[in-house]
Amino acid sequence: MSLRLGDEAPDFKAKSTIGDIRFHEFLGNSWGVLFSHPADYTPVCTTELGRTAQLKDEFARRNVKVLALSVDSLEQHQGWIGDIDETQHTKVEFPVIADEDRKVSELYDMIHPNASATATVRSLFVIGPDKKVKLTLTYPASTGRNFNEVLRVIDSLQLTAAHSVATPADWQQGEDVIVVPAVSTEEAEKRFPAGLRIVKPYLRYTPQPE
Ligand code: BEZ
Repeated sequence: MSLRLGDEAPDFKAKSTIGDIRFHEFLGNSWGVLFSHPADYTPVCTTELGRTAQLKDEFARRNVKVLALSVDSLEQHQGWIGDIDETQHTKVEFPVIADEDRKVSELYDMIHPNASATATVRSLFVIGPDKKVKLTLTYPASTGRNFNEVLRVIDSLQLTAAHSVATPADWQQGEDVIVVPAVSTEEAEKRFPAGLRIVKPYLRYTPQPE
């Protein structure tokens, strides 16, 4: 069965380009992004892993550890990383898991047989410090993911974990956020001294808390 939001992210031990990894131990108290790609030495995947490497500082700033995965071998990963570094002008330093026996792919339901019997689709999981699944994304092989959107969701998740707020459609860092319905307006006035903008009793904005 596929993983759902709020489920515990299954732990595993796997071979990776930075050595053997125990997933939960590797994450420690950090947030995690675990994402699969269909295959090494393919064009869209090359841009995705390159983009992720370029965003190293952005993930680090948010206390996020990133791991990529496909069913290719460690040797293939190592050779391909050289190509990624060269063509995407970056350095892939995050681990790329070699899931040749498909153990992790199956745990995370990353192989969708009606799309491909052998390759992983573009699955992505954001995992919180509590090891719970906070976001799932599934893209087809032909569409590269938007890693700015992944960062945007992480910003929203981290904000909403710290404050009783939600983020509206297309929200970006620094824009007003929404007070969750569970908080009364009287309580919201105390919690959000920067003020409320009440559009409807159920639609109340406040400036993004620090
Ligand atoms: C790619 O990364 O370009 C790709 C991989 C598998 C199927 C189609 C495209």
